[in-house]
Amino acid sequence: MSLSVITEAGSARDAVSEARKRGLKVGLVPTMGALHEGHLSLIRAARKETGFLAVSIFVNPTQFGPTEDYDEYPRDLDRDLELCRAEGVDLVFAPQPDMMYPKEHATYIVQERYTEHLCGLSRPGFFHGVCTVVIKLFNIIAPDIAYFGQKDYQQAVVIKRTVADLNMPVEIRILPTVREADGLAVSSRNNYLSQEERLQATCLHRALTCAQELLASGGKGGAELKAAMKEEVLKAPSARVDYIAVVDPDSLDDVREVRGRAVAALAVWIGGTRLIDNMMLVAPAKE
Ligand code: PAJ
Repeated sequence: MSLSVITEAGSARDAVSEARKRGLKVGLVPTMGALHEGHLSLIRAARKETGFLAVSIFVNPTQFGPTEDYDEYPRDLDRDLELCRAEGVDLVFAPQPDMMYPKEHATYIVQERYTEHLCGLSRPGFFHGVCTVVIKLFNIIAPDIAYFGQKDYQQAVVIKRTVADLNMPVEIRILPTVREADGLAVSSRNNYLSQEERLQATCLHRALTCAQELLASGGKGGAELKAAMKEEVLKAPSARVDYIAVVDPDSLDDVREVRGRAVAALAVWIGGTRLIDNMMLVAPAKE
């Protein structure tokens, strides 16, 4: 089947219901475009599991703060469409901002609690924008399964909670973070880094690895783990910490002592670029 590129919600809905009539399971990979290996890993997993695969490409204005990079965010629809075609995607939904948010638009999804941590603190309004657009996309495409990356761990937790709270019949799959050879998590924002900053950006992954190693050698305290991560990050001269946290994987509350599993998460400015990363920490089994 050839790739359909659709910009209107009604036409997207029609294409999906045609597929559903043919008995196909519908998958959705929501993205903001500038597709890279991280996005492609989600698309490939979805392609294996679903008979009709939609990818949305939409740089969502409501999740950017007034001083953030909405205007500079990379956009290259032609290249993205080529990549989607090569992966056998059936439908790309690429709406214009005024279709998604007409002047009269007045309804937002505001999730409490899980957004009051980590990125929710340093980017107020960010998760309102994310939840709103994701629920709108779910209402338009009505996927059976939607795919997200662990790279944005909090986003995945928030979306899972929203879908459960709103009784939406969609399964959420979370897939592992794709990394460059030196450990840096693949991200569209890596393109903003200068050559020197790109080298220093590996400090995020090194800090996470360092936390996992410390935990393996018996250091279980949240404060101790965070201090070790901070020390590692600050070895990079261009790095400025936004947050460093060790949290419960489900509640996202800070953990004082890691028992079982915890998520180490951090946001770090490298020069003018804010990068995030995280890792699931697993405490060694008791002897
Ligand atoms: P975007 O940053 O384009 O990411 C789209 C999806 O790709 C997200 O689920 C994200 O977690 C995943 N992803 C990004 N980098 C990844 C990597 N290195 N490895 C694995 N997966 C990765 O996240 C968004 O867009 C938006 O907030 C969106 C959900 C589309 C709502 O606007």
